[in-house]
Amino acid sequence: MIRAVITGSGSALPKDCVTNADLEARVDTSDEWIVERTGIRQRYIAGEGETTSTLATEAARKALDDAGVDASEIGLIILATATPDHTFPATATQVQQALGCRGGVAFDVAAVCSGFLYALGTAESLLRTGMAKKALVIGAETFSRILDWEDRTTCVLFGDGAGAVVLEAQDVAEDGPGILATKLHADGEHKDLLYVDGGPSTTGEVGKLRMKGREVFRHAVVNLADVLGEVLADASVTAADIDWVVPHQANARILDATARKLGLPAEKVVVTVDQHANTSAASVPLAFDVARKDGRIKPGDLVMFEAMGGGFTWGASLARI
Ligand code: UT7
Repeated sequence: MIRAVITGSGSALPKDCVTNADLEARVDTSDEWIVERTGIRQRYIAGEGETTSTLATEAARKALDDAGVDASEIGLIILATATPDHTFPATATQVQQALGCRGGVAFDVAAVCSGFLYALGTAESLLRTGMAKKALVIGAETFSRILDWEDRTTCVLFGDGAGAVVLEAQDVAEDGPGILATKLHADGEHKDLLYVDGGPSTTGEVGKLRMKGREVFRHAVVNLADVLGEVLADASVTAADIDWVVPHQANARILDATARKLGLPAEKVVVTVDQHANTSAASVPLAFDVARKDGRIKPGDLVMFEAMGGGFTWGASLARI
């Protein structure tokens, strides 16, 4: 059977690491509050010359090297971001040009923190139709540029970064590698709980991120537990079969609560929120790359990806590595 198989991964972070202590000097907050409420200890913030496309390109190059795939073989680039370099063209086309890929298809997906799951699901569908043989799926963000640095309830939560995977259409056995099941959801009823108060067609300004954190938190735990259950049922596996969960890294308490709801031991959850904070669409591929490169995630492992973000949008995807 034809499946979309993850054959490589890569990630990139800005040079500048900003600790909670650094933020104490900037806003009315404390390391103690941030660690206790979120698990975040530091984040990376893009400096001059670092943009969503430069971070995405670095992550994509590393993923290509890791997969042993030449940029010229890539027929599809899907880049998930809510912080593109420009309103248009799509940041994916900038990455395409920087990598030296010619031809094929390149476009952005906007599903905020669920963006990587949306991009992965879209790429998997397109690969299975035969539209392309090899794809780059990237999550990349520079949320620091849409934060209101006067608003302590949001500015301490986010960081910048990028992660990428190479996805290849391969003819595999039933118990072979590849994406086994994906479920995506959206519910625009909650669009005002997490949004940016600007945009090209409204204010003409980029705008700043606004969030009702406590309400987002409540929805996140319920929606994630539901969608994880759907994916497990679709793939006919149980939570006990999962080797690793690679969740969107918004808040350590959301990760704990979701794992507990599913009966998954905390040791099976990849946690990078302490190091990277919430990098929106980048967080899942960034955490996946970290856990692959440090040897935790191995070939043959059953890995669950999941995320929830603005819209609301949410989703999960199960893959055999
Ligand atoms: O990635 C997309 C999805 N996003 C999320 O999943 C985020 C989900 N939400 C969260 O992670 C949490 O709701 C937050 C971390 C955003 C907030 O944690 P919380 O436990 O829900 O705190 P809260 O918003 O209820 O605020 C509690 C208190 C408030 O003070 P009062 O009103 O109780 O006196 C806030 O003013 O904490 C105060 N506070 C802070 N204090 C120090 C809020 N931000 C800060 C801060 N430093 N940075």
